[in-house]
Amino acid sequence: MDKFVIEGGTPLHGSIETNGSKNSALPALAAVLLTEDTVELARVPRVRDIKTMQRLLVDIGSIVDDSGDVLRAQTKEIVSPEAPYELVKTMRASSLVLGPLVARSGRARVSMPGGCAIGARPIDLHLMGLEQLGATIKQEYGYIEAVAPEGLRGARIRFDRITVTGTEDLVMAATLAKGETVLENAAREPEVTDLCNLLISMGAKIEGAGTSTIHIQGVDRLHGTPAPHEIIPDRIEAGTYLIAGAITGGDLRVTHCVPQHVQSLIEKMQQAGARIEQEGNSTLRVTAPDKLRSIDITTEEFPGFATDLQAQYLALMTQAEGISIITETIFENRFMHAQELIRMGANIRLNGRQAMVAGTMQLTGAGVIASDLRASASLVLAALVAKGETVIDRVYHIDRGYERIEEKLAAVGAHIRRVE
Ligand code: EPZ
Repeated sequence: MDKFVIEGGTPLHGSIETNGSKNSALPALAAVLLTEDTVELARVPRVRDIKTMQRLLVDIGSIVDDSGDVLRAQTKEIVSPEAPYELVKTMRASSLVLGPLVARSGRARVSMPGGCAIGARPIDLHLMGLEQLGATIKQEYGYIEAVAPEGLRGARIRFDRITVTGTEDLVMAATLAKGETVLENAAREPEVTDLCNLLISMGAKIEGAGTSTIHIQGVDRLHGTPAPHEIIPDRIEAGTYLIAGAITGGDLRVTHCVPQHVQSLIEKMQQAGARIEQEGNSTLRVTAPDKLRSIDITTEEFPGFATDLQAQYLALMTQAEGISIITETIFENRFMHAQELIRMGANIRLNGRQAMVAGTMQLTGAGVIASDLRASASLVLAALVAKGETVIDRVYHIDRGYERIEEKLAAVGAHIRRVE
């Protein structure tokens, strides 16, 4: 298993480019199953979760070519409408194939996701929606089976709570349903909008993406993409690098990002004293004063503060003067990084869904274990500012969602290396 060895204390200087978004590319790949034509995607990040999704597509019957800059995938026939346990257990986003498979072939069999490091993460809302679209759902032997032999039909569906992949799954299913579907209390995340734009380029009729109410007019078939669809920049990766610049007291440009997508983070970082300036349309420059102030955050759905940046922001707050309260409202168990940060000298007290962080603490290098993707990112950030050497174990978690993070950070001055 690979580890990162990080020697902290060097301010980062230079530019880091943001990749295409993992959480946009995953549903975009699932959308490939909706048509027998070729779908072309540009700026698909080369991260492990994307490889897992490609493997799933190939098992289902797609031919995927990701040898060049543009990924091409075609699914002439659904050979096996199934997402097996081996894949679902490593990547919960596998459940994104549920909607496209039922819509295209009238049948899907997807392993039930189990527990997860950050919370229970059920998919009951995906299933509720598919049932309302006319599918019959059966759960047995650890699998969910959804069938709709006569095809799906449009419906008005209201989500009890906002779900990102649930919204994406049902938008995809509804594109091929008969008649109109209205999704209420839908997720407004930029990744949902990106998926809708891809589907529209494939012939889907969708209105309201990016708002809480999405209207989908079903069509008989979808076609391939007329030109490669460019995946939007990864806002969580961009946010992670902004924090890297601030936590090390550096001067960093984060390029190829969409500043509006990280607005809630920018506002909090500015209140904490970091300087963040926009240069052109897609570059953010971050510099930090010697002292940061503690500023509270509460995670929320977009456009609120992203839960996927909570762990990284918590690492930043260990370097801010005063006490900050970090409240996690999306997932019930997303503070695994706190225990490891405490081992590095952070002063954090956990109370249910809240973490109280007291700074400024001089962090010191230690052996720590990455528990999930964003927790790992927060440990890397803490290690960049810690005194001495930090060894982060199980960095396969970080490889799920960050492309070449150690190379990118090393190129701007970090002392970080990967060892086997
Ligand atoms: C997406 O997960 C992201 N994953 C997550 O990113 C992200 O943390 C999350 O949205 C929230 O922003 C992808 O896009 C692939 P949800 P998703 O359904 O869709 C509950 C990362 O680090 N819920 O919006 O699975 C659920 O338990 C990852 O890149 C139900 O109760 O999250 C959670 O508390 C991790 N029933 C809340 O809703 C359901 O059927 C939001 O979950 C579905 C969800």
